[in-house]
Amino acid sequence: MYYCLMGPPGVGKGTQAVFLSEKYGLEHISTGNLLREAVRQKTKLGLQAQNYMNQGLLVPDNLMIALVEEVFQKGFILDGFPRTVPQAEALDSLVKRKGLALDQVILLTLDEEELVKRLTGRRVAPKSGRVYHLYFSPPKKEGVCDETGEPLIQREDDKLEIVRPRLQRYFVEQSPLTAYYKEKGLIREISAEGSPEEVRQRLEECLKKN
Ligand code: AP5
Repeated sequence: MYYCLMGPPGVGKGTQAVFLSEKYGLEHISTGNLLREAVRQKTKLGLQAQNYMNQGLLVPDNLMIALVEEVFQKGFILDGFPRTVPQAEALDSLVKRKGLALDQVILLTLDEEELVKRLTGRRVAPKSGRVYHLYFSPPKKEGVCDETGEPLIQREDDKLEIVRPRLQRYFVEQSPLTAYYKEKGLIREISAEGSPEEVRQRLEECLKKN
């Protein structure tokens, strides 16, 4: 099974990808998580990507395509890739070279004000990678990760002044990509409204129909 999970920042791609990977035994490849780890480890890629990420800008296609080629493996759910038509074309040729095909591209959608709430309330544990929300999924003890006890932080790109322009750019950048997959008949739009459980149920229904 080969799925791409797309959608605006904060829509819940990471939250749902974790569930899908556990349920269907798929490798969860999150380009955002891979980049954040590269930044944390101060690798060459991390140093090149950090400024773009902090400002909520896309990292250049050549870096992203090389990264995905490196981590590509059998049976995956790709979270946050592709984000541009050149990335989608590179993914097409990569899966073709391996004699595979994408099963489906799932586009999660949500109202902009809800996205702002999800993004600005998100808190993350940098080492464990666990994601919390101040109101929707708070940690047991305020400000620390349930798993590791490390302090939770707010991502630079989740600050309100970055979130608004980041969302605006997303809507501009996403439109040609959606058209690209619509033409191939691969895209399914799913509403990300409601609780994580409700979204999960919609996703499962969609995958069953596939
Ligand atoms: P990335 O980490 O992929 O960021 P993103 O796409 O902006 O998505 P987010 O991680 O912000 O949100 P999400 O949809 O995963 O939401 P989540 O599940 O956490 O990328 C970061 C950066 O890396 C990019 O800006 C770019 O610079 C670079 N990059 C990455 N991939 C790239 C690419 N292919 N090309 C170029 N650059 C790239 O949920 C959000 C919050 O809401 C959480 O707190 C969660 O607990 C909560 N929540 C989730 N679902 C629900 C729900 N149903 N109800 C209530 N709360 C919910």
